Amino acid sequence: MMKTNENIYPVFDRMLSREDKESLLGQKGVMLWFTGLSGSGKTTVALALERELHRRGLLCRILDGDNIRTGINANLGFSEDDRKENIRRIAEVGKLFVDTGIITIASFISPTRELREMARDIIGADDFKEIYISTSLEACEARDVKGLYARARRGEVKNFTGISAPFEAPEQPALSLDTAALPLEESVRQLLHLLGIES
Ligand code: ADX
Repeated sequence: MMKTNENIYPVFDRMLSREDKESLLGQKGVMLWFTGLSGSGKTTVALALERELHRRGLLCRILDGDNIRTGINANLGFSEDDRKENIRRIAEVGKLFVDTGIITIASFISPTRELREMARDIIGADDFKEIYISTSLEACEARDVKGLYARARRGEVKNFTGISAPFEAPEQPALSLDTAALPLEESVRQLLHLLGIES
């Protein structure tokens, strides 16, 4: 990859600040980083939270694995290197949203601690809230919404997280939500609480 910063003149110092954006919007930017297995309910919880925030007049943006992988990250697969580049780009893009004062939800398997640490480093620890969607492999596989677990068991999908590629649970997430045990409204309520919003 090309890595030269020569002849680049950033204009960050002349742009309006994050504080300007936040006071315009009347809210604070933050990154809610959802991690969990495929089929754990990351997207479902993200969508429900987005609707609730929107209803309350708060501006929110979801970045979601399956969407991002058809657009900006369409050239990436599921090797270790590609997952790293996937998460790096998402973190950089997510940072732009957070710096615009937007409540940003990143919904990606992001299977290793190293990947999530990289995301935290890019975004900044103060703005980064790790949310573990902790639904068990058994529950995700029983749901098998996309049929990918069955295909992975048959060896038709390589490097499938939880089957033939690792998933490392977060050690100290800001919040853990098991969608097999919690009603959707309860997950949303706990997220609003984390954001300091009354429910
Ligand atoms: S990540 O590991 O790089 O963070 P990401 O969240 O972007 O993954 O994409 C995961 C989605 O891609 C899954 O929900 C699933 O639909 C699809 N997918 C396709 N192949 C794989 C695979 N080998 N492992 C995991 N997910 C896969």
